[in-house]
Amino acid sequence: MFLQKIEKIFFDESYYVNSNFFYVRIYRWNPYLRLKPWFNIFPLKLREIKQLMVLDLLFYIKNTHDSSLTFRRSCREGICGSCSMNINGINSLACLESFDLRFSQFLTIYPLPHMLILKDLICDLTNFYNQYRLIKPWLISNHKIINNTKENLQSKIDRFGLDGLYECILCACCSASCPSYWWNYDKYLGPAILLQTYKWLIDSRDSAHKIRLNFLNNSMRVSKCHGITNCTKVCPKNLNPAQIINFLKYFSKID
Ligand code: SF4
Ligand code: SF4
Ligand code: FES
Repeated sequence: MFLQKIEKIFFDESYYVNSNFFYVRIYRWNPYLRLKPWFNIFPLKLREIKQLMVLDLLFYIKNTHDSSLTFRRSCREGICGSCSMNINGINSLACLESFDLRFSQFLTIYPLPHMLILKDLICDLTNFYNQYRLIKPWLISNHKIINNTKENLQSKIDRFGLDGLYECILCACCSASCPSYWWNYDKYLGPAILLQTYKWLIDSRDSAHKIRLNFLNNSMRVSKCHGITNCTKVCPKNLNPAQIINFLKYFSKID
């Protein structure tokens, strides 16, 4: 497999100011070309279109300028989490991020930072999903469910406790903005996976409370969070993984 870390690319904006064009700068890398990563700068005359989503713009460029441009997307509704990327320096979902041509002349798009790159804006999420698998992201229940015919109910209050957790779409924007995850991505679980862990931990229908807490009882898995809160700042679903990690630290201490 061809994998490569992103290198910083210098770009002098002053050269382009006061032009009639709108400039979209996109990080590119193709493993088959055996070249270093480069920036493609697409000068677009889009004055008639005042506002677009970044994902629309990427489609526009792919359809009219360069069909080899590669990015992930599926739902274009902020539901699937596929189109996460770094847009003007902030990790976000391209389908939810709008930009206004009247206020800005530049748009810069990188893949998620500190991830291995497969091609252009597509990063390798294998480690992220392997960590997700480690937390057993499914209901572990002692209750017998007869022939799957009976619903496994919970009270309204218990269900309310899952708000702010179940909305996570595993886009990895938070984990890719966390310095602790950058440096310890193989040991520290990162904000997204920890938020998911907490969701299963407090689900009233789940019976594996002890097993889940024991799994977290490791010097790196939770405690590598230093409360910088980058994760909460970037979450496109307005969740608060930094706070959830504090709850997890508390739970693992008292249990
Ligand atoms: S917590 Fe937010 S940023 Fe992190 S994976 Fe879930 S939805 Fe994405
Ligand atoms: S609060 Fe913790 S998980 Fe969030 S960015 Fe900071 S170190 Fe990472
Ligand atoms: S395309 Fe599904 S979240 Fe953006």
